[in-house]
Amino acid sequence: MNDVVINAIQQKIMTTESLTFTSLRQIAGRDMNAQASLNRGRAIIDCPTLLNQYLYSYGLMVQRQWSHVVPNIVEMLSDNNGQDMHLYDYGCGQGLATLLLIENTSGLQEDISQITLIEPSEIALTRAKSIIECKLPHLNIQTFTKELDDIEENHLSINTDKMNIHIFSNILDIEGFDQFELFNKILAKGGTHYFIAVSNDRNCYGGTSRLESIFDALMGLEPEENEIFNVTHAQFERFSDEKNMNHVYFCLKIEIH
Ligand SMILES: C[S@@+](CC[C@H](N)C(=O)[O-])C[C@H]1O[C@@H](n2cnc3c(N)ncnc32)[C@H](O)[C@@H]1O
Repeated sequence: MNDVVINAIQQKIMTTESLTFTSLRQIAGRDMNAQASLNRGRAIIDCPTLLNQYLYSYGLMVQRQWSHVVPNIVEMLSDNNGQDMHLYDYGCGQGLATLLLIENTSGLQEDISQITLIEPSEIALTRAKSIIECKLPHLNIQTFTKELDDIEENHLSINTDKMNIHIFSNILDIEGFDQFELFNKILAKGGTHYFIAVSNDRNCYGGTSRLESIFDALMGLEPEENEIFNVTHAQFERFSDEKNMNHVYFCLKIEIH
């Protein structure tokens, strides 16, 4: 399928240097009069036109969310002591959260050695992979065209010697997958995990209660016998952006060894 972003990358109109969130939205953010088809941003998109509509309709909101989140997580992410990072983006769509995270955190790019993108829309995932490959050409990017309930522990390839950074941008609030099962799979082998989640703050269609319940469950985890277990940097916050839209975010670091 003809994707304006993939074409621009192939034709070197967008390069590692020139591809930014802003240039991406300039090239592909288009009002196609199709916002209703996005189902409040939650649709599993099946054509590039709708990816462009998502970028037009929700791109700036996602940018405002991550402008708030990034300054809050910098300190948490700076305790890596030179360890390699594996970044996971769950329900990544066209990869906006990963792009915004690497664009707004100086030094993080050099420490990321692997990225895993998970998303059921093949079209969105293909664009996300092209964008992130263009931005970080040296990296190993793994993709899974899957719903989160279909992710198995072995797909995640958690390396307990790395920093595992898990981002959930406008996905944890969506009903239709078991967030507790997913987190059990992520934590099954132990290791060092950083969780960062952001969504609209609302009490319908799933909503904030799904973020609250998983945050509370993580905070309530108990160590097993002979386990070294630490939860630090825990924050759960509701905030309004400059357009007066309400959002909710949490971050926390869990170490299990
Ligand atoms: C609101 S969009 C968020 C996209 C991106 N993370 C962002 O912040 O721009 C929700 C994404 O979740 C995906 N999605 C919906 N249901 C899902 C499920 N059960 N498992 C995984 N992804 C899902 C959709 O295809 C869509 O890309």
